[in-house]
Amino acid sequence: SLSPVDRAKFAAAKRASAFVESGMKVGLGTGSTAAWLVKCLGERVKDEGLDIIAVPTSSRTAALAEEVGIRITTLDEARWLDLTIDGADEYDPELNLIKGGGGALLQEKIVATASDRMIVIADATKKVDTLGAFPLPVEVIGFGMRTTRMLIEELLDGLDVMGTKAEPRMTDGGLYVTDEGNHILDLHLGRIGNARQLALVLNQIPGVVENGLFIDICDVIVTGHGDGRVEMRD
Ligand code: A5P
Repeated sequence: SLSPVDRAKFAAAKRASAFVESGMKVGLGTGSTAAWLVKCLGERVKDEGLDIIAVPTSSRTAALAEEVGIRITTLDEARWLDLTIDGADEYDPELNLIKGGGGALLQEKIVATASDRMIVIADATKKVDTLGAFPLPVEVIGFGMRTTRMLIEELLDGLDVMGTKAEPRMTDGGLYVTDEGNHILDLHLGRIGNARQLALVLNQIPGVVENGLFIDICDVIVTGHGDGRVEMRD
């Protein structure tokens, strides 16, 4: 009784979980698609005694991994990982991504970068020709956040993007707070002409911790469809 989009996410997660082998150190992503992966791996731990050690990319994923019986550790303990599997909010034909819709982009980028391989799992709706319709999450320090926001909007004004609005992410209680105690600005860009350049210049603003553009980090995309079909590209 899964909806087509959940069936697509599950199919992608299931296929990607087959890349995990005993003895591996594995990074676990965050979000609804990554949650399916964690459940698939939990089943393999129980059913076949799959022996892995995992590094979660958020407190949410850590809780789920423990719940399904996956052994977890910190990145500092593991140092380097064989493989990270994570979702994405958008991916383009060059396998560049927008991530951070779930707010975990900083840990996700650190973990994916510390891995020999990154596999992205997604439903087909995440595929785009040009990144940017999905608001780009940027993690910023609380101190001077209004000034940081102003500097970002000024920077965007001179770049090849459609919109320049940087909107603080909110929750019921006020500003959204990341696992690292920072906040998020969602950049409504519409279309990002040069994602590589944008990723570099955003990080040069002192109050910016990291942005949700993943350039040259992803190696393989596993796309799931509503009918259970799966496509892979690398
Ligand atoms: C979490 O911070 C994000 O990067 C997620 O990977 C992304 O939002 C995808 O989430 P879903 O799998 O829920 O679409």
